[in-house]
Amino acid sequence: EKGTYPHYMLKEIDEQPLVMRKIIQAYQNEKGELEIAEDILNVVKECDRIYIVACGTSYHAGLVGKQFIESMAKIPVEVHVASEFSYNMPLLSEKPLFIFISQSGETADSRAVLVQVKEKGYKALTITNVPGSTLSREADFTMLLHAGPEIAVASTKAYTAQIAVLAILANVTAKSRGLNLGFELIHELGIIANAMETLCDSKEEYEKIASEFLPFTRNCFFIGRSIDYFVCLEGALKLKEISYIQAEGFAGGELKHGTIALIEDGTPVIALATQENVNWSIRGNVKEVVARGANPCIISMAGLETDEDRFVLPAVNELLTPLISVIPLQLIAYYASLHRGCDVDKPRNLAKSVTVE
Ligand code: F6R
Repeated sequence: EKGTYPHYMLKEIDEQPLVMRKIIQAYQNEKGELEIAEDILNVVKECDRIYIVACGTSYHAGLVGKQFIESMAKIPVEVHVASEFSYNMPLLSEKPLFIFISQSGETADSRAVLVQVKEKGYKALTITNVPGSTLSREADFTMLLHAGPEIAVASTKAYTAQIAVLAILANVTAKSRGLNLGFELIHELGIIANAMETLCDSKEEYEKIASEFLPFTRNCFFIGRSIDYFVCLEGALKLKEISYIQAEGFAGGELKHGTIALIEDGTPVIALATQENVNWSIRGNVKEVVARGANPCIISMAGLETDEDRFVLPAVNELLTPLISVIPLQLIAYYASLHRGCDVDKPRNLAKSVTVE
């Protein structure tokens, strides 16, 4: 039940700190260390390449997961949109492992790939919110999200739960391969949960941003580099699906190769700047769009901020920033939808789980 909340989406956004803590608990052993099932750890360690297959928001979580698995566990990862993968399968490695990411566990596009993968005799792990769902039953292994039921069509807490579970998978694998990461994930996730809480307490700020930048606009761009780019794709999807504003996420450096032609006087451009190594270059991209009339909204992270920033996120581990940088974007989308009089929880043309290919 949504209780005192006007919409499920708002409730589910607010549940994210709690979900983080549930995930930490669920994947913790008696010694207080993060742990995943032995048989899952073994197949991850034995494979020579991981193929992540998913749709929509879950695909966006997969892009972040690739970054985690490659940088922590040093295993190469490809991320594929399920509906493309099933008709245009790439050349596979010798010992592939498939990871299906699906909130519902019922997405037909993802299932079509799982069926093909099983026919070929490959191993599959499903990361899902729903125990006993089709993708969970048909895969060899399951990791649960522990996010509780997600009712709003626009996925929010499942996205951050997917990212956290992928971080745990990457981290536990890295440790068991003897790789030293220089940080304790369990501790960092605790910091994330607290930061999420702080962010969820700043709602007036996002409402202001939504009413300043988005009430009458036709379109909106989200730009970022590196891991911020993946979050931009998710921010754009959230905004378009519930507010019907045409929104696109772009890699900052790619704008000048065509998309910048769309920037007009007043075009809102939301930029994420949470990564030190690209902080200077993403700000350069913001200057490029501002020179063409864009209305910029920079969201940065403490330690990297400048006077021009509209919102500064609390400092967290740099690799894990998607867990918090997405929250302002979810809430900006929520308020944009609300202000434009759209049906927040049940946007037009969409269903919660897509069970047709
Ligand atoms: C967007 C959204 C969809 C789903 C996609 C996959 O907010 O909810 O893009 O992420 O349909 O659904 P699952 O994760 O259930 O496979």
